[in-house]
Amino acid sequence: MLAVKAEGLYKYYKDGNKGRKEVLKNVSIDIEDGEIFGILGPNGAGKTTLISILSTLSIPDSGCVEVFGVDALLEANRVKSIVNISSGNPNFPWSLTVYENLKYFSLLYGLDDTAIEKVIDTLELEPFRNVRFDSLSTGTKQRLSLAKALLNEPRLLFLDEPTVGLDPDMAIKIRKLINRIHDEKGITIVLTTHYMKEAEQLCGRVAFIKKGEIIANAPPDELKRQMKLGEAITIEYEGNFDDSLLRDIPEILDILHENGKIKIVAANVESIIDNVLKKFCDVHVRNIEISQPNLEDVFLKLAH
Ligand SMILES: Nc1ncnc2c1ncn2[C@@H]1O[C@H](COP(=O)(O)OP(=O)(O)OP(=O)(O)O)[C@@H](O)[C@H]1O
Ligand SMILES: [Mg+2]
Repeated sequence: MLAVKAEGLYKYYKDGNKGRKEVLKNVSIDIEDGEIFGILGPNGAGKTTLISILSTLSIPDSGCVEVFGVDALLEANRVKSIVNISSGNPNFPWSLTVYENLKYFSLLYGLDDTAIEKVIDTLELEPFRNVRFDSLSTGTKQRLSLAKALLNEPRLLFLDEPTVGLDPDMAIKIRKLINRIHDEKGITIVLTTHYMKEAEQLCGRVAFIKKGEIIANAPPDELKRQMKLGEAITIEYEGNFDDSLLRDIPEILDILHENGKIKIVAANVESIIDNVLKKFCDVHVRNIEISQPNLEDVFLKLAH
């Protein structure tokens, strides 16, 4: 069974005098049970709007959403009991402590203290139990937000930019935690992120959304292939090099040449490296670097 099946979603917001702004445009998406699915895209593309709709926090203007086979528009309460959402910019009652905040949500969800103790343990929040929300560091606020989202033991967890604003150490810690929660509890996770490394590390599949439309949806490696982003060999040299010498190597997909530095892109660099280096026999080569394409390259190509 699919964790999420969304079809033909449209969402409009009022837009000053101009009337309405189309924020989601015919968005259809299938998310498999148990996967970690990433939603990527530029600022304002509609990522938060999309996950708000999938998690029943917002209602689309048209289209339908099913969560584990339950209609999210007709039976929102049934869906609410099996999903939860955590934002990377959590906004909790600031004068309540970690425990009091979790108590507040557990009462809303109709849960007892056992649920609170479980998430305090999972998210290692014991040292902060009696610390007020406004005194917590950004990383601990994010952990509290994750703890809140795990209280009802959701089958489907939405994470909106779970590591935004964290230092690299804390971001790594949170990513490990997300992976652990996914592996141990076998839950489906849908996350948005602006960190391409994060999407690459965590997500089995990613969708790219631009101006409210999904324009790509595939595993990260397949996206790189689809975008014809090959491996690259970058050669730094001294003096002059005439790049027309490379014309007789048909496997070359692209050449970027600037002063003393040339980047040659091919599907498989290993198969051309010998031929390429032969062209440099009269030039003093200072450095050679081979690089794999990454999701950042995909993002930049899709976003423009
Ligand atoms: N409540 C609202 N009222 C009016 N417009 C809104 C509202 N919420 C979002 N928007 C607009 O909808 C568009 C999509 O916003 P959304 O927050 O979904 O984008 P996003 O992809 O999550 O962006 P970011 O990467 O910056 O978080 C933006 O143009 C935003 O200004
Ligand atoms: Mg957002």
